[in-house]
Amino acid sequence: MTRVAVVTGAARGIGAAIARALADDGWALALGDVCTDDPALGYALGCQADLDALADRCRDLGVPVVTQVCDVRVAADLERLVSAAAALGPVEAAVANAGVLGGSGPAWTLPDQVIERDLAVNYRGVVGLARSVVPSLIEAGSRGRFVAVVSAAGTTGLPLLASYSAAKHAALGFVRSLATDLSDSGVTANCVLPGSTDTAMLAASAAVYGLASSGDFARHSRTGRLLRPEEVAAAVRWLVSTDASGVTGTSLAVDGGFTG
Ligand SMILES: NC(=O)c1ccc[n+]([C@@H]2O[C@H](COP(=O)([O-])OP(=O)(O)OC[C@H]3O[C@@H](n4cnc5c(N)ncnc54)[C@H](O)[C@@H]3O)[C@@H](O)[C@H]2O)c1
Repeated sequence: MTRVAVVTGAARGIGAAIARALADDGWALALGDVCTDDPALGYALGCQADLDALADRCRDLGVPVVTQVCDVRVAADLERLVSAAAALGPVEAAVANAGVLGGSGPAWTLPDQVIERDLAVNYRGVVGLARSVVPSLIEAGSRGRFVAVVSAAGTTGLPLLASYSAAKHAALGFVRSLATDLSDSGVTANCVLPGSTDTAMLAASAAVYGLASSGDFARHSRTGRLLRPEEVAAAVRWLVSTDASGVTGTSLAVDGGFTG
């Protein structure tokens, strides 16, 4: 039977790698992304062309794919994405991957707008997806999976990124409680905590610290290199599989030893 997964922030980076990995495992996909830049962020986001190209690559792997412009800050967008997924078959997995770097600066100087931007996507975007999709996951019973792509910043305070770190801590706390609330249903809920992964967001982080390139983050990990998005996707791929049925309420660090 077709298994359907929803992925937010799928147009590029880690989200796109997750979509490709799930397609490779035969998951039908509903892929959402905001597909619009936010001038306040100071770096470009994924676009419709990225999302369309990804969908084609996944279809080449033989699975049905629908795409939606979906801003995780907007409940109606998430409802439409989950409805589009349900039209493909039973929704058994949801991956809350969309994230932004809302702004930077010493913690005590961050204005409310920065804190709000980080919370709106990195925390409330996870909550919003759970609201829309958990009833479907409960119908899937012990095959239901909720995974949030959080960050090493969900357990560590990153310099100059207090509001991003706070929002990621909040997302992690939410998913831990979600796992508890789902305990009678058989649905699992887990977090993946990536370290420095070679994506456009990491390039934006390098600019925060005045680094010449994102490659400079490699020295903070025990592997001495950046992660590839596919390495993070591999953890998500496993967490949504039936093999991971005994894992819930946990946070899986995929950070090259950064927090180890
Ligand atoms: N790259 C890293 O080093 C790293 C490390 C730790 C955690 N993460 C987390 O991994 C996830 C993916 O990050 P990435 O590095 O691939 O970043 P990215 O910027 O390359 O991709 C993020 C995607 O999310 C989309 N997005 C942004 N705001 C959205 C919104 N409101 N609604 C829907 N989609 C939205 C963007 O358009 C983009 O396609 C994020 O949650 C991020 O916080 C990344």
